[in-house]
Amino acid sequence: MIEVRDLVKTYPGATSPAVAGVSFTVEQGGFYTLLGPSGCGKTTTLRCIAGLERPDSGMIKLGQTVVVSDRIFIPTYRRDIGMVFQNYAVWPHMTVFENVAFPLRVGKQKVAGSEIDRRVRESLALVGLAGLEKRMATQLSGGQQQRLSVARALVREPDVLLLDEPLSNLDAKLRERMRSELLLIQRRVGITTLFVTHDQVEALSMSDRVAIMDRGLIVQEGAPRDIYHAPANQFVAGFIGSTNLFAGRVISRDAETGQALIETAAGRIVADAEGHEAGADVMIAVRPEDVVLHRGRSAGGPEAANSLGGVVEIGLFTGVSVEYHLRVAGQLVQSRVSSRIDFTRGDDVVVELPVHAIRVFSMAGSEPAAEGLAGQDA
Ligand SMILES: Nc1ncnc2c1ncn2[C@@H]1O[C@H](COP(=O)(O)OP(=O)(O)OP(=O)(O)O)[C@@H](O)[C@H]1O
Ligand SMILES: [Mg+2]
Repeated sequence: MIEVRDLVKTYPGATSPAVAGVSFTVEQGGFYTLLGPSGCGKTTTLRCIAGLERPDSGMIKLGQTVVVSDRIFIPTYRRDIGMVFQNYAVWPHMTVFENVAFPLRVGKQKVAGSEIDRRVRESLALVGLAGLEKRMATQLSGGQQQRLSVARALVREPDVLLLDEPLSNLDAKLRERMRSELLLIQRRVGITTLFVTHDQVEALSMSDRVAIMDRGLIVQEGAPRDIYHAPANQFVAGFIGSTNLFAGRVISRDAETGQALIETAAGRIVADAEGHEAGADVMIAVRPEDVVLHRGRSAGGPEAANSLGGVVEIGLFTGVSVEYHLRVAGQLVQSRVSSRIDFTRGDDVVVELPVHAIRVFSMAGSEPAAEGLAGQDA
């Protein structure tokens, strides 16, 4: 288990903290991912947990051991962790065997030669590199080197595995394969894992839980499905997946149902808008795969709520799907539909935005929608 509470880290000379008060818990055996844009503080958080940085304040607990608090700072070599760095840093002048054996040879507790041999072979078998012990590390492919660095991180059988963008140096095809391989290794060993990436597909496909970071803070935490389908704010909606964003203003709101009528450049849209009163400026988000297209012209009228008349501007055929760009009054809308659906440029279509698929955020932007903004609207 990893527990991080109110972690703050400011680099010397920096005007704002790189990590500005981060808290999260990784359950025993869990696969937890910090996801966010470049510079948001992912690596800094990981380095604090590894003991490679000393935080300004906060608490870090690994298993039952507090390794960082006001009064405690346990150095890296006494923390029970394995770490894989972004550039996986295998040692080129050593064989595969010696790369993996190294942490056992330099470790504080002495490990007997026969024990080293057994553990190295076990680790290499785990990552599918058995039989390559005598090769030089540089004679491995990129994917094999990556697995070698995982074997090296696991050989001391640590409680916790820290992975900093371990797949980002691999080509696209290999990266995809290594996702499932890495996850299988993690499941087999059952090791508590903290993964850092700026790649949303990696994060969503591999993790039990994901924390989205922005400017040194976690802005949302949850299971991949919840993060994707219920982003807490505009930043998360825009960062994860592609999203149609419509600026609008609430015209009226039914206090009982919570549904609001919202004026946008595309037309009037009905949406669940709990917490957004009449007159409020809002941002509406709809995923392209949730936008439904029908052939023909919109009937208009109140019964046709959220069915807007549009014209096809262009269709991008990808094989799996087609991404249509539609002109809906003053707004460009993207829709991703089955590649069997075939429209031509200039076709009239009805663009349906299902109420359940629409998320409404306050215009204040990337602040968490539910918190602390009440005073700012006046
Ligand atoms: N050693 C350092 N000294 C000073 N500033 C640093 C140092 N390392 C990182 N920073 C700054 O701290 C902030 C957070 O950096 P960090 O490396 O944690 O980001 P990251 O989320 O891992 O980004 P990336 O996706 O690019 O790896 C950035 O603004 C960065 O410029
Ligand atoms: Mg980083």
